[in-house]
Amino acid sequence: LDLTVASSGGNATSPLQYGLMFEDINFSGDGGIYAELIRNRAFQGNTVHPSSLLAYGSVGGTTLSLKNLSQPISSALPTSMNVATGNATSDEVGFSNTGYWGIGVEKQDYTGSFWVKGAYDGSFTTSLKSDFTNETFATAQVVSASSPDEWVQHNFTLTPASAAPSSNNSFYLTFDKSGVSGDSLDFTLISLFPPTYKNRPNGLRKDIAEALKELNPKFLRFPGGNNLEGDDPPYLWYWNETIGPLKDRPGRPGTWGYQNTDGLGLIEYLHWCEDLELEPILAVWDGFYLSGPVTPQDELGVWIQFALDELEFLMGSTSTTYGALRASLGYPEPFQINYVEIGNEDNLGGGNASYSAYRLPMFTSAIKAVYPDMTIIGSTPTVDPIPEHISLDYHEYSRPDNFVEEFNLFDHYNRSHPILIGEYAVIEPNNATMASVDWTSGATRLAFPSWTGSVAEAVFLLGAERNSDFIIGASYAPTLQNLNSYQWTPDMISFTADPTKDVLSTSWHMLQLLGNHIMTETLPVSGGKFGPAYYVAGYNNQTGSHILKTAVYKATADVPVSVSFKGVTAGTTATLTVLTAPSGDSYNAVGAQVVQSTNTSIKASAGGVFKFELPKLSVSVLEVHGR
Ligand code: AHR
Repeated sequence: LDLTVASSGGNATSPLQYGLMFEDINFSGDGGIYAELIRNRAFQGNTVHPSSLLAYGSVGGTTLSLKNLSQPISSALPTSMNVATGNATSDEVGFSNTGYWGIGVEKQDYTGSFWVKGAYDGSFTTSLKSDFTNETFATAQVVSASSPDEWVQHNFTLTPASAAPSSNNSFYLTFDKSGVSGDSLDFTLISLFPPTYKNRPNGLRKDIAEALKELNPKFLRFPGGNNLEGDDPPYLWYWNETIGPLKDRPGRPGTWGYQNTDGLGLIEYLHWCEDLELEPILAVWDGFYLSGPVTPQDELGVWIQFALDELEFLMGSTSTTYGALRASLGYPEPFQINYVEIGNEDNLGGGNASYSAYRLPMFTSAIKAVYPDMTIIGSTPTVDPIPEHISLDYHEYSRPDNFVEEFNLFDHYNRSHPILIGEYAVIEPNNATMASVDWTSGATRLAFPSWTGSVAEAVFLLGAERNSDFIIGASYAPTLQNLNSYQWTPDMISFTADPTKDVLSTSWHMLQLLGNHIMTETLPVSGGKFGPAYYVAGYNNQTGSHILKTAVYKATADVPVSVSFKGVTAGTTATLTVLTAPSGDSYNAVGAQVVQSTNTSIKASAGGVFKFELPKLSVSVLEVHGR
């Protein structure tokens, strides 16, 4: 490659080029980034997932059962756990909770709370213990304030003196059976949090949020994905049931086969955006269930109003109905929403015709009437006819070669309709015998992103960067995976209950490199051709750096590069960062880190030329230091 980069003539880029997509899939919210450690904390259930005692165990011979008391903690949480001491085998009795496949214990404060109803004179003991050795890592006494007449909340802090050797630990809550009048106590909303990201109450798991922040993301698309839509009526994502005190959130059957607590609710998503400095891209439910009916046109009004209420809740002044509701929950300051996506993948599943015919136009005009500056994103790559000025959402799940073929896809798009690449991932290895991705069988799915796939994704993303005057941004999906239970592979970050064992995939490393070298304008490049090296060049007006990003996909030999930037003189220094891996099939997994990153300092020779070689399968950034 012998490249010359011009000093002007490119395009200003989108400020949101690299972002995040999140929905609760793969226990990525509950049991994942939502830092709650107690599983099934409030016995939430419904016809799809009836309430259960999942994750609880008896201690000291108690009998645990579910009760729908005449006086529940709230109408949202009608079911609680009765702990009966009649058959107890010891004085100290109670229950345990396994957490989400264990509880990581570190030397830090854990803040907890539980609600109890019943007559008990004595103290409760809360603790974190090993499942294997029964060793106690932390314990705290809580003097009972319980009453047979009402639910009373009890708070406690657990402070382990040292970290546990593994996450095979459980939470215990016990009490002295002789202090109980009436042979049983009722419990619900049992909660335990480690310190959260930026110490947000009810906040995010630190290790995962930090791994996301390292990507330097600029937006968060939420709450779905399929999980926005719900499988069947009536279980769409009701924003108004995800707000307020936890005791007022009923939860819902998520689309991915498990109950969502909705502890990670609408306000928490906005806090996530605030804390990681992300632009929210809010998807609203638009009358289409994943496998259920399409809402007829004459019944759509109620759902349009539902979306408008959601926007008023977030953005309205405190003199509006829903702005006042927000303020009453403790958030008088409005949030700002600039991007709203109408539904999710409305080109799939039979909703296509109604989407073009009335759902997208009706939502668009109703939202635009109140918020004329709102960017509306249609949740399909094509809509015919496209309402004026609407943006579109392009999703791509495919094979490495397909991604590389799409390097120039956006060169030919209609630029009057900006594109969000709301989901993408290489999900299968190349397969010469099949024309398209095998959606019917999981057999060929990658377990983790592979290096070939990550390089191919980089090629695709560099093609998007070349067009980032109208590409709003791109977000890998799914973002997170709990390795103990998941519905979709591969994922960008995988984790367990042990925060020291997170897997940052090959694609995470590729994205960390690209996302931390943002160009504010692209610059025309002459002298080269695309393939096997694919590239984009530009300038960052905040750092004064010229940048060349290159992905080399399946070259037969290392690629020599010679590049000069107009206006950059001899002697100027640059840093070349190159990512490689031992082979295209290699992948990062638990305890196995294959991506290698090297930094080399290079000085421009006469004529301001930088010379270097790029490995056959690699992703690299040359950053020419400007200031
Ligand atoms: O990312 C997993 C799923 O893929 C999303 O929920 C959906 O939008 C897409 O089909």
